[in-house]
Amino acid sequence: MPQSPATTAPDRPSRRGVLKLLYACIWLSLVGAVGLGLGAVLRLISSGSGASQAQPVEFNQPGDLAVGQARDGGPVALVRDVQGYFALSLVCPHLGCRPAWHQDKGRFLCPCHGSMFAQDGGRISGPAPKGLSHVALKARGNKLVAYPNQTVDPATRLRA
Ligand code: FES
Repeated sequence: MPQSPATTAPDRPSRRGVLKLLYACIWLSLVGAVGLGLGAVLRLISSGSGASQAQPVEFNQPGDLAVGQARDGGPVALVRDVQGYFALSLVCPHLGCRPAWHQDKGRFLCPCHGSMFAQDGGRISGPAPKGLSHVALKARGNKLVAYPNQTVDPATRLRA
C-alpha cells in the first residue's frame, strides 16, 4: 500500500522552515551589528569627544602638583615630571572613552577595554593603537591652561 507524502518524514524540517530560521539568524546578526555600532557612537559622544572637548581647561595652583603626579581635568590631564608640566588628551585612541589617572599605579587606565598608559601618555598595554596625545599647555597668570584640540610634540614641557 503506498504511503502518503505527509507520513514519510514527519521529523524532517521543511525547506521553508530552514529558510525561515536562516533569515531569522541573519536578521538578528544585523540587529546586533547595528546595536554595537550605535553603542560605539554613543560612547564616543558621552566620553567628551564632542564640541565641549574643544574648550580650554584651566588648572589652578599647578604648584601643588608634585613631580610624578597628574591631575584629571575633564578631557585633559595636567601632568608634572622632572622636566616640567605637560597636558595629555584624555580621549582614548581606541574608541574614545576617557582614561583616568590612578596615582597608586602611576598609570592612566581606560575603563572601557583596559588600555593602560604611562604617566607620559605612552601606551603600555590594551587595545589602544597608540598613546595619549600631548596637547598645548600655556601659563595664564598663576594658572595653566590646556587646549584639548591642539596637539603638540610629546617632548614639549612648560618649565616649573
Ligand atoms: S576605549 Fe579605551 S581601551 Fe577601548
